[in-house]
Amino acid sequence: MQSKHIKVRVYENKEISIGIFKLTIQGSFEGKPGQFYMLRAWDKQPFLSRPISIHNLDKGKIEFLYEVRGEGTEFFSNLKKDEFIELLGPLGNGFDIDSIKGKVAIVTGGIGIAPMYYVAKQLETCEIEFYAGFRDQVYLIDEIKDFANEIYVSTDTGQFGHKGFITEIFNPKKYDIVLCCGPSIMMDIILRVCKENNKKVFISQENRMACGIGACLGCTCKTNSGAKTVCKDGPVFSGEDVIIHA
Ligand code: FES
Repeated sequence: MQSKHIKVRVYENKEISIGIFKLTIQGSFEGKPGQFYMLRAWDKQPFLSRPISIHNLDKGKIEFLYEVRGEGTEFFSNLKKDEFIELLGPLGNGFDIDSIKGKVAIVTGGIGIAPMYYVAKQLETCEIEFYAGFRDQVYLIDEIKDFANEIYVSTDTGQFGHKGFITEIFNPKKYDIVLCCGPSIMMDIILRVCKENNKKVFISQENRMACGIGACLGCTCKTNSGAKTVCKDGPVFSGEDVIIHA
């Protein structure tokens, strides 16, 4: 799948929850679940484009779900219909959907839910149980219901679902394979419990990126098979490869 650099018009840019936006671009796009695009909607500053994972891809449109976290995403949040945005992608290595079979757990924390919606949608032949952890507000759960057999939700405040962390109610024993995306502290816990229970696990990392194409080495991470770039070798890595930090 060849990546392309294109300038396109925004079709819709909607706040679906406080500080969480869904950006829709119309057209014909490519990309596997777990892959991302570098997005840019400014001329010189901020210097770097922003990596945003594919949230949804359908015939005739691509969608990105992002959280406003800094200058770049703040800029995106102000984009109006028909304004221009530059896209470079699809980039990185996504999930190998054809190799994922059986009963699957998808575990997400915060905006880590964004790429996993597209993953769940593509796993048509699998039985999916979805675990989603949030700080306080909950989003995307109704849409996930279309693809998941069971959904477990947690919030730090207890406003919705289990009060506490999603890792507290996750039991890997029930599953053939576990897929995970979220804060590194959460992914470290999931990696550890999956290893202890001898379960296959794949994680999608959310590191900061500069070039997005493997050229600057700014996103290098240590793995059991040597140094790798998150943007080109990842962002999806096998649990066997990943070094647990916490
Ligand atoms: Fe440059 Fe990954 S961001 S190598």
